[in-house]
Amino acid sequence: MDYKAQIHIDQLPKHIAIIMDGNGRWAKKQGKLRAFGHKNGTKAVKQTVETCAELGVKNLTLYAFSTENWNRPKLEVQTLMKLLISSLKKEIKTLQENNIRLNAIGNLDDLPTKVSDELNDVIALTKSNNRMVLTLALSYGSRNEILNAVKQISIKVKNNIISPEKIDESVINEHLYTQNLPDVDLLIRTSGEQRISNFLLWQIAYAELYFIETLWPDFTNQELYKAIVSYQNRERRFGKTSEQIR
Ligand code: FPP
Repeated sequence: MDYKAQIHIDQLPKHIAIIMDGNGRWAKKQGKLRAFGHKNGTKAVKQTVETCAELGVKNLTLYAFSTENWNRPKLEVQTLMKLLISSLKKEIKTLQENNIRLNAIGNLDDLPTKVSDELNDVIALTKSNNRMVLTLALSYGSRNEILNAVKQISIKVKNNIISPEKIDESVINEHLYTQNLPDVDLLIRTSGEQRISNFLLWQIAYAELYFIETLWPDFTNQELYKAIVSYQNRERRFGKTSEQIR
């Protein structure tokens, strides 16, 4: 089945977010170390980024490292950080050729200096690109993001910069790491787990959720097209009735 042909290009999700899960299981199935899974996961990242840009998706956000992932064995954390550095170095060309702007969200101060330096370089180099925004969630936790927003807004209230009555959804949006991004339309999670795992809790309020069994390194273009077709076949009512939508 060619799912690409079924996509309505004028109704693409404006923002796709992906929980890339299953690298470890993918490696284990082949009797290899978890690092092998992560390495192959980067190939799926590259392909997905390029394909989203080619299709015309404006925003893609990838959950690359959660705040909880710091608790993994030290060696695995190191491997992931090294992979990030090498991927950033290697893929700057892909980002430039595809006119993609890199963005990062999360507790970026927690990242090793080598990672944050590389990240900041690529963010600066791609800052004028405007075909798609690729956001990497790194040392990211959604509750933490909301907590930070609450703290920042509280300080502004205390200093009379904003009055409590003026706090609305847009004020909260402006204080989240994702401040310049639209809400997520489609959230994909691979590997069969049906959880959100502290990812973009505020931003997925009306997102369509799409769970597949495929392990992340096996995620293909066809899987991506299929997810978009599924999204386009759903009726998004935002609390209204079907009649009101039509
Ligand atoms: C989840 O699989 C995946 C991660 C925690 C890391 C995702 C990272 C990559 C795909 C590579 C680097 C990313 C970029 C953006 C270059 P898991 O390890 O939890 O798998 P498991 O559930 O099978 O153990």
